Amino acid sequence: MRERRKNRDASPSPQVVAGRAEDFPVGSMTCFPREGFYLSRLPEGFLALHETCTHLGCRISWQEEGTSEDALAEMGCFHCPCHLYRFDRYGRPHGRQGLAPLKLLPVVIAEGKVVVETGAPRQRRAYRRSQAAPAPQPGLSSGGPASARK
Ligand code: FES
Repeated sequence: MRERRKNRDASPSPQVVAGRAEDFPVGSMTCFPREGFYLSRLPEGFLALHETCTHLGCRISWQEEGTSEDALAEMGCFHCPCHLYRFDRYGRPHGRQGLAPLKLLPVVIAEGKVVVETGAPRQRRAYRRSQAAPAPQPGLSSGGPASARK
């Protein structure tokens, strides 16, 4: 797992520029500890996953050596130290029925950069492909936020 330390913009906007989209390989998980989220690069795009467990609110951590709970890679999963539930790189829970997936932070791709809005994590009931912000296609204009989400 990679870790990035980004300074928040000095403005009141809770947006964080995570980096250039092309710098996040498919399958990578990048921690933004100060901002409290993980950036998951999936084949379909980007998910920004809030670091708080949806069981009782403990802080999760990405375990690079943990057995994967998804089909994208053999290793890597989120672990919650409080009651040992696990979440995969899509934020889906494992180990307890009825547990909600990890909350999402909105992601947009603007001028080839991944921008995460950290102000208001959104609860969801399940993972859907449409939740991922599509990665820009090589050789195409990356467009702005309006063209990044469908
Ligand atoms: S608070 Fe995370 S498993 Fe209970």
